[in-house]
Amino acid sequence: VFLSFFLFLHLCVSLSLESQQSSADFRFYIENHTRNPDDLSRKQVRIYQLYSRTTGKHVQILGKKINANGDDGGKYALLVVETETFGSHVRIKGKESEHYICMNKKGKVVGRPDGRKQECVFIEEFLENNYTALVSAKYKGWYLGFNRTGQPKKGSRTTQRQQEVHFMKRQPMGRVDPLEEFRFTTVTKRTRRARRLKPNPKKN
Ligand SMILES: *[C@@H]1O[C@H](CO)[C@@H](O)[C@H](O)[C@H]1NC(C)=O
Ligand SMILES: *[C@@H]1O[C@H](CO)[C@@H](O)[C@H](O)[C@H]1NC(C)=O
Ligand SMILES: *[C@@H]1O[C@H](CO)[C@@H](O)[C@H](O)[C@H]1NC(C)=O
Repeated sequence: VFLSFFLFLHLCVSLSLESQQSSADFRFYIENHTRNPDDLSRKQVRIYQLYSRTTGKHVQILGKKINANGDDGGKYALLVVETETFGSHVRIKGKESEHYICMNKKGKVVGRPDGRKQECVFIEEFLENNYTALVSAKYKGWYLGFNRTGQPKKGSRTTQRQQEVHFMKRQPMGRVDPLEEFRFTTVTKRTRRARRLKPNPKKN
C-alpha cells in the first residue's frame, strides 16, 4: 500500500510538472506562431508615389501640409506605405517629413507625426478605370482627394467617381508598375509560410 501510494504521488508530481512545462511551451508556441506572422503582415512596407489625376503631379507630404503638386522624384513625394493587414488597409507616410496622411472628423486632410489612429488608415480601392482611390477607414465614403490647384479636398465633399480622388501608384521617375503589387504579395506569402515551417525544437 505504501509503495502504491508513493507511486501515485510520484505520478502526480511528475504529471503536474509536465503539464506546467508543456503549458509554458505552449504559451511560447502560441506567441511565436501568432505574433510573428502578424508582425510580418503589419510590416509590409512599400515605397511609391501617388500620381494625382487632377494635377498631373504627385501627392507630397510636407509636414502638416499635404498637397498634390509634387514633382516626379521630388523628395516629399516619396511615400512609405505600410500595409496594416493582408487586406488593403494602408498607412501613408512621407519618407522625408515622416508625417502620415490623416483625415480628421471634419474631413480635413492633415499630416501627423503619429499615424497610429484609425484616422490615418485608408482603404485602397481599385477602380475599373485602373485608377486607385483611398477611402478613409474611419469615415465611410470620405476619400482622399485634391482639387485642380493641388489642395486637399474635404472628405465630406468627395465621391469615388470624382477625378479628384483618382490616383496612380508610380515608382519614382514615372514608371507605373502594376506587377509590383503582385510580386510583393507573393514574396510575403512565401516568407510567412517559411517562417511557419521553420523547425521548432520545442514543438511537441
Ligand atoms: C519563441 O521565441 C522566443 C524568442 O524569439 C524564443 O526564445 C523561444 O525559444 C521560442 N519558443 C518556441 C517554443 O519556439
Ligand atoms: C485597365 O488595364 C487593363 C490591363 O492593363 C487594360 O486591359 C484595360 O483596358 C484598362 N482599362 C482602362 C479603362 O483603361
Ligand atoms: C482648391 O482648394 C482650395 C482650398 O480649399 C481653394 O482655395 C481653391 O479655390 C480650390 N481650387 C479649385 C480650382 O477648386
